[in-house]
Amino acid sequence: MSVEFLLNGEIIKVTGVSSTRTLLDYLRETRNLTGTKEGCNEGDCGACTVMISDGKTHRAMNACILFLPQLHGKSVRTVEGVATGNTPHPVQQAMVDKHGSQCGFCTPGFIMSMTCAHTNGATDYDTQLAGNLCRCTGYAPIIRAAVAAEKTNKPAWLGEDAKALAALKTKAIHPESSNDLAKWYEANPDGTLIGGATDVGLWVTKKLARLDSVCFISQIEDMRQIEHTDAGLRIGASVTIEELRDAITPLYPDFAEMLRRFASTQIRNAATIGGNIANGSPIGDGPPALIALGATLTLRKGSVRREILLQDYFVAYGKQDRAKGEFVESIFIPAQSDRLKCYKLTKRFDQDISAVLGCYNIYVENGKVTCCAIAYGGMAATPKRASNVEAALLGQAWTKETITAALPAFAVDFTPMSDMRASKEYRLKAAQNMLQRYFLEDTQNTPRVLEPS
Ligand SMILES: Cc1cc2nc3c(=O)[nH]c(=O)nc-3n(C[C@H](O)[C@H](O)[C@H](O)COP(=O)(O)OP(=O)(O)OC[C@H]3O[C@@H](n4cnc5c(N)ncnc54)[C@H](O)[C@@H]3O)c2cc1C
Ligand code: FES
Ligand code: FES
Repeated sequence: MSVEFLLNGEIIKVTGVSSTRTLLDYLRETRNLTGTKEGCNEGDCGACTVMISDGKTHRAMNACILFLPQLHGKSVRTVEGVATGNTPHPVQQAMVDKHGSQCGFCTPGFIMSMTCAHTNGATDYDTQLAGNLCRCTGYAPIIRAAVAAEKTNKPAWLGEDAKALAALKTKAIHPESSNDLAKWYEANPDGTLIGGATDVGLWVTKKLARLDSVCFISQIEDMRQIEHTDAGLRIGASVTIEELRDAITPLYPDFAEMLRRFASTQIRNAATIGGNIANGSPIGDGPPALIALGATLTLRKGSVRREILLQDYFVAYGKQDRAKGEFVESIFIPAQSDRLKCYKLTKRFDQDISAVLGCYNIYVENGKVTCCAIAYGGMAATPKRASNVEAALLGQAWTKETITAALPAFAVDFTPMSDMRASKEYRLKAAQNMLQRYFLEDTQNTPRVLEPS
């Protein structure tokens, strides 16, 4: 495979490259660009953050779990490439002025996340920097530096990169359409599809998996579309979590707020919603919210498509209703008024996997529950609806007494497990409390209590 991209403004052509060579290894071992650090090698710490651009968008991403073929036709800027000659980038200068640089190991990653925020005009630094861990408590001067750099000019290399990318004539090395993908997967049913590689990347860096036959699908244009119609919202499987967050903000703000706490900016810029569903994880954040919204999946094998309710896709732990050679093409959320609330419970507020995620979509008319969908992550071997709790609510008066009477049904619906995130007793109690919280927020018109960000 031959991969072509811009690296700090220079056109790079890498031939005969393994499909799962990470950008981080390439930068450090082949290019000797050791400013990009290896901390965790699993997308958690942000020490390896780089900026990936397609000429229009500029995204912070983790180089440790980005495979070289994912860069084809893109531009990469590392910490070595953000200054202009001897003039530091404004965020670098601000880090010096505000004493933001601490141990030095994490600083390049911070600089890159701050460079992306500066480029995009993003000032929500708690969110922008949630994927950069600093263990020396140095966030305050770092954020002061980010604020100080806000009104400064953007470097000229941004425009130069965009021009160079437009002139770069790359030959396609991945399928360009869902039709191409369908053909490839029918011919290679044992191959591995790679969306954002935020799961698959770890198979390689942590489990040392060798993947011989892979297909990159995150750039497939017709699977990257989000279509609004009167009937609802169709989301292509290759839409990233960050793109999904933007699209649903006006429709389902609580879902979007929950996604703000899905991993980090770097991960959300890579991770796709198709990968989040396809991996079948019982603690994935997308599925419970989508199930509560009554979402359906379009699965495709060759030219044959079928639609199933998302809740039916998850059969058992590690088992999904998906045949060999079949892939998730899109997700559909039927149009509805917004009654959805999502409560994500984690040990750490940001950049943490859910211990319990509860999603509630309950409609009340004339004081009675007329429609009710409640789904949880972290409570069973799959994302799962609380059907007995729903049955206890449906048709009943929307009162504290009804909620109290429904609480024992949680133990019928769920036998959660104990693990490092939470004990089974805690999970059960938390799930019950979340329903009570939904009721209180709804009936007392309590403003949503947001945990500190
Ligand atoms: C540091 C870190 C933090 C994380 N935090 C969270 C979190 O807070 N919440 C959460 O839900 N997840 C989290 N994750 C997990 C992961 O980011 C998500 O599950 C993500 O959505 C996976 O998408 P992807 O495109 O990266 O999948 P990939 O890694 O590319 O693929 C995952 C699996 O899905 C398959 N696949 C991908 N796309 C398709 C498709 N269209 N059709 C069929 N199969 C497909 C792949 O073959 C593979 O088996 C985290 C991961 C990391 C590394
Ligand atoms: S090395 Fe920690 S996120 Fe990449
Ligand atoms: S900057 Fe490295 S631990 Fe704080």
